[in-house]
Amino acid sequence: KPLIYYPLTTLMLIGIKNILIIINPGEEKLFQKLLGDGTKFGINLNYKVQNEPEGIAQAFLIADNFLNGDNSVLILGDNIFYGDNLIKKLREASNKDNSSTIFGYEVKDPERYGVIEFGKDNIVKSIEEKPLFPKSKYAVTGIYFYDKNVVNYAKNISKSNRGELEITDLNNIYISKGKLETEIFGRGSAWFDTGTHDSLLEASNFIYTLEKRQSLKIGCPEEVAWRNNWINNNQLKTLSEASIKNEYGKYLRDLLLSQE
Ligand code: G1P
Repeated sequence: KPLIYYPLTTLMLIGIKNILIIINPGEEKLFQKLLGDGTKFGINLNYKVQNEPEGIAQAFLIADNFLNGDNSVLILGDNIFYGDNLIKKLREASNKDNSSTIFGYEVKDPERYGVIEFGKDNIVKSIEEKPLFPKSKYAVTGIYFYDKNVVNYAKNISKSNRGELEITDLNNIYISKGKLETEIFGRGSAWFDTGTHDSLLEASNFIYTLEKRQSLKIGCPEEVAWRNNWINNNQLKTLSEASIKNEYGKYLRDLLLSQE
């Protein structure tokens, strides 16, 4: 199952249908082949190329026309989120108007991430990107909800020492304006940044164990589209037939059989 399915289904579970996928040069054909314009999942997919790896916050400069002054949610392509309550929390953040929200998660190695510094009454004081001496164990996860000002704020950021427009700098702008809400994904949830070989393997083992235990797939856009009523039985059947020789296609077919 391609990694992109995980962030994609997270967005679909929140109920988001209009999505811009920011890709590296040369990847367009691969994405077109895998996902196309999203019709097969009942969603609307667009693509834009980020020519150089110049930071996550650059996404908002690239997405300026696409967003057209709307609120938005950004999810990183290598992030996997899992948990019962988690989707509910994300939906709540998504339904808030004129509001921006980030999510923290307790980790053993916060120095790998943006780290939240809490002040009095657990108010977020600041976020530090990959600090040598983290001020808490709470990493900023790769899903961000922003109000309509995000593109303008992103235009005001300058490149960091590592040559990137940092999402952390964008979040600190929101904090300085008192406009950033922070939620925590609690102990019953899982968050993986699969940016290293080790973390990819750890996430794979986690997903493998759960999928095997329950016979339910995690990160299956066909299933989510169908359960959301964005595609009908016939469309799901067609999707299952495309990969009926493997276990993935059989899973889709069994979804249909189970409701008969
Ligand atoms: C990026 C962000 C960091 C965030 C992380 C989440 O890190 O810069 O603040 O905690 O994603 O996955 P990077 O992928 O650039 O190492």
